[in-house]
Amino acid sequence: MLGSAWYPEQWPETRWDADLALMQQGGFKMVRIGEFAWSSLEPSEGKFDLDWMERAISAAAAHGIVTIIGTPTDAPPAWLTSKYPETLRVAEGGQRMEHGMRRQFSYSSAKYRELCRLMVEQLAKRFGHNPNVIAWQIDNEYTEDSFDDESRGLWHRWLEAKYGSLGQLNQQWMTAYWSQTYSAWDQIPMNTGRNNPGLLLDYKRFVTDEWRGFQKNQLDVLRRYVEPRQLITTNLGGLGWANRFNRRVIAGDLDIIGWDPYVGQGHFDYQRIGATHDLVRGWRRQNFWVLEMQPGFVDWAGVSNSLNKGETRAMMWNAVGHGADCVSFWQWRAGLNGQEQYHGVLVGADGQPVPMYDEIAQAGAEFAKVGAAIAGTSPEAQVAILHDYDSRWSIDFHKQTNRWDNVDVLMSYYRPLHDLAQSVDIVDPTFSLDRYKLVVAPGLIVMSPELAKHLTDYVEQGGHLVLGPRSGMMNEFNALNPERQPGPLVAALGGRVEQFYALLEDAPVAGKWGNGSATIWAERLSTKTADAEVVMRYGKSNGWLDGEPAAITRKIGRGTITYAGALFDARLTRAMTASLLEASGVAPAPLAVPEGVEVCRRIGGGRTVFIVLNFSNADQAIALPRAMRDLLAGGETSRVVLPRYGVAVLSENGGAQ
Ligand code: GAL
Repeated sequence: MLGSAWYPEQWPETRWDADLALMQQGGFKMVRIGEFAWSSLEPSEGKFDLDWMERAISAAAAHGIVTIIGTPTDAPPAWLTSKYPETLRVAEGGQRMEHGMRRQFSYSSAKYRELCRLMVEQLAKRFGHNPNVIAWQIDNEYTEDSFDDESRGLWHRWLEAKYGSLGQLNQQWMTAYWSQTYSAWDQIPMNTGRNNPGLLLDYKRFVTDEWRGFQKNQLDVLRRYVEPRQLITTNLGGLGWANRFNRRVIAGDLDIIGWDPYVGQGHFDYQRIGATHDLVRGWRRQNFWVLEMQPGFVDWAGVSNSLNKGETRAMMWNAVGHGADCVSFWQWRAGLNGQEQYHGVLVGADGQPVPMYDEIAQAGAEFAKVGAAIAGTSPEAQVAILHDYDSRWSIDFHKQTNRWDNVDVLMSYYRPLHDLAQSVDIVDPTFSLDRYKLVVAPGLIVMSPELAKHLTDYVEQGGHLVLGPRSGMMNEFNALNPERQPGPLVAALGGRVEQFYALLEDAPVAGKWGNGSATIWAERLSTKTADAEVVMRYGKSNGWLDGEPAAITRKIGRGTITYAGALFDARLTRAMTASLLEASGVAPAPLAVPEGVEVCRRIGGGRTVFIVLNFSNADQAIALPRAMRDLLAGGETSRVVLPRYGVAVLSENGGAQ
């Protein structure tokens, strides 16, 4: 499904039909409306005007276009802000927001939530059975937490509910340190500076729960009034990797997840954004919707450069390859005034298509052509990377080296895994892992006894678990695990970390996976049982590491647990990955392709569909292992030639219908 954000309230109604006709012509099947339209939907308190929205939905339907309604709560109207200043957000520095921007509300304000509920109730009652409304988007891009007194009070109550007694909290946070011991709940600060690590981790969990509550407030209303056929989603922004709160938890309450893969400055990195799609898909283990994509360029980057001709279409197909069932653009046409005049659009200020329109319309026609073959299919992987918000936060609170970037570390494993296996899942460590032959855990620093048991069970039942550096250093309170790393997994591993080192200079390493260097971070390991094997050793470096184990492995039950104590250079990481894939019996990549060519595979309903994309600078010829149906070009083929940004959609087993 191809779609676009459309703001009918910003345009004379006489213009709507021309826009919708252009959408229909371009293959657009969906509009996303309403998410900033509160002042048009409730011009004054309690006076609702929903008629224009009903007319807009009908006008779209007349062009074969369905609607996703966004609840307008990301942009409260001026009457609300001025009448209820207690709903305004307060920044960490104490500054209260004003009107004129969006997101000026406090997510925990009871009054704001009440006003949201009343607004959403009107919409849900009116459109909850409208046949042309297919989904609801709650709010838009939950972003800012608030440091107002109401939020602070809720934080204290949240801690009280979690710990029961101050004694417990003082113990788990070890507040004797720097005289932090608390004797009343309201003494506990709410700030995100260099605070107690236990407090910082709990604060992130509190923020997650507050957003979850903010969402539930609207979700309950929608569930009450709208048909289950109308799916409930939200639009998670912030470039996917954002970690202001735990997005997996937020996703868990919805019917389908939506997100925004913006590029901003630069060009499309198919692996980094592809990995983000995999992360998003992993939150619910389900296909997802791309609710916003930039039509060429944005207006907020350092340099808001345009993607090259052809790059946007390739980005659309990359999203589909990773599990998107909808790609929607932001936005259709720039408001003549308002904050985002410069942003990429489909239609210019004059109401005529801009150059990008044709490229997106081409993809729209392609989506229509192959939609039936792709429907009901999803990516499937035998390999997973574990992604854990607690661990990312814990490392971000104290990095020890500014050379460590959690997403870069995850990507250093993802790139070779994706090249070699062509399908990778990114999932929460608590999920069931039995479907995977290989599980890689980069930087899984927060390791509770329960998580250690879950991972050990996976290994004993035949899984291959690879822990990266920094694993298992902390418990669930972000306190140091007294066993040293990997904490409660030391016994299963039959070894441990003797000491960690933040590296300024690379250290040589050599062993079973080849030769190369350890970079950024290196841990000196030791084995504690005779059956634990040293796989890699450091060469001469800082003296402490010289000759010491850099990676160890041990078979337990029917599986293997491996600890790689350093970040290796890209070549060595690739060699390590190849070795691990082979050892764990992961099926080899189904298509052999040159570097810079991406293969995505969606499986379902007895069909396998390959989406092959050329992101290299030159034409590439790809020989297929057997004849496949070329769904875009038509006919059978055993060889495809793709220009730069070229796309082939190939199917086996009945994909032709
Ligand atoms: C998104 C937001 C949209 C629009 C867009 C511009 O983050 O959801 O409303 O502002 O950015 O790139």
